[in-house]
Amino acid sequence: MVRNRCTSPVWQATAPVLAVHGGAGRIVPEELGAQRAAAARRGLSQSLAAGMTVLRDGGSALDAVVAAVLVLEDDEQFNAGRGAVLTAGGGVEHDAAVADGATRRAGAVTCVSGIRNPVLAARAVLERTPHVLLSGTGAQELARREGLAVVPVDWFVTARRQQQLAGIRPSDRAEPEFTGGTVGAVALDIEGHLAAATSTGGTTGQLAGRVGDTPLVGAGTWADDRSCAVSATGDGEALILSVFAHEVDALVRLAGLHLGAACQRALHETELRAGTGGCIAVGPDGTVAMPFTSAGMFRGAIDATGDPRIGMFTEDNAC
Ligand code: GLY
Repeated sequence: MVRNRCTSPVWQATAPVLAVHGGAGRIVPEELGAQRAAAARRGLSQSLAAGMTVLRDGGSALDAVVAAVLVLEDDEQFNAGRGAVLTAGGGVEHDAAVADGATRRAGAVTCVSGIRNPVLAARAVLERTPHVLLSGTGAQELARREGLAVVPVDWFVTARRQQQLAGIRPSDRAEPEFTGGTVGAVALDIEGHLAAATSTGGTTGQLAGRVGDTPLVGAGTWADDRSCAVSATGDGEALILSVFAHEVDALVRLAGLHLGAACQRALHETELRAGTGGCIAVGPDGTVAMPFTSAGMFRGAIDATGDPRIGMFTEDNAC
C-alpha cells in the first residue's frame, strides 16, 4: 500500500485548471522553518498566478505550464534554473521537458548549462525541431539560434547549493543522496487541452552526465488529451525505472483507473524500486491529483474559481 501522505489528494476542479510543484523531499515544518516556508509559498503562488493569467486570457495549456515553470526556474529557492543543485564537480547541468496533450508531442533538453530558462529550450525542441530530446552543446546551440537568454554558468550557482554540496561526504558522490527538488506544472485549458512541463538541476552531487526522469518523456513528464498531464518529482532513478508518468497514463487510459488511484498505483511502483517522490496530474475532466510518498511536497493548484490551494507538508489538508 502506498504511503500517500496527502490527506486529500484529489480535487475536482473546473476548467481552466493549473497545478504546480516545487519538488518533493524531506519537507517538514521543523526543518524548513517559517521564513523558507513563507518564501516557498510566495514562489508557488506567483507561479500559479503567472500560469492562470495565461489560461484566463484564453491561452493554451502549453503556454500556461511554460509561464508557471519560468517563475519557478527564476526563483532560486527551487531546484531548477538559478539556484538549482550542483553536480559532484560543482557544475551545473539542467534538464527540462514540455509535453503537449493536444498533439501528443514533447520536447526536452538534458545536461545543459548556460541556458537561463531550460523550459524555453525544451519548448524550442518541441516547436522548432523534428526531435524530442536534445543534449548538451546541441541543445545550447539551438537555444542560441532561437535567441533564448544565455548566461555565464556562474550565474546559476548560489552559496546555499555550494554549502549543500560541501555537506555531502565524498564517498556518497557515486550514489547521490536524494535531495528532492524539481519544479513542474500541469494545466487544462478552456479548449480542453492538457500540457505538462518539468525542470530540474537533478540531484546534489550527481555524476556529470547523469540524466534523471525530468527530460525523459514518459518518466517525469507526460501529456495526452485522452488521459492526463503529469509532472513528477523525486527519486529520478526509481521514476525512470517505473516509467512513472506513462504508467499513470496507461492506468487511466487502458486500465480505466481514476486519476488519483492511477497516481497512487504508479507511486507504489516507484516505491518498489526504492524511490520516493510525488507528482501533480490533471485530467481532461478537471480532476487534479497531487499525491506524494516523501515527507512533503511543495505544491499548489488553482481553477476557474480563482482560489489558490497551496500545501507543503503532510498536514496541509487543503491539497
Ligand atoms: N527528479 C529529478 C531528478 O532525479 O533528476
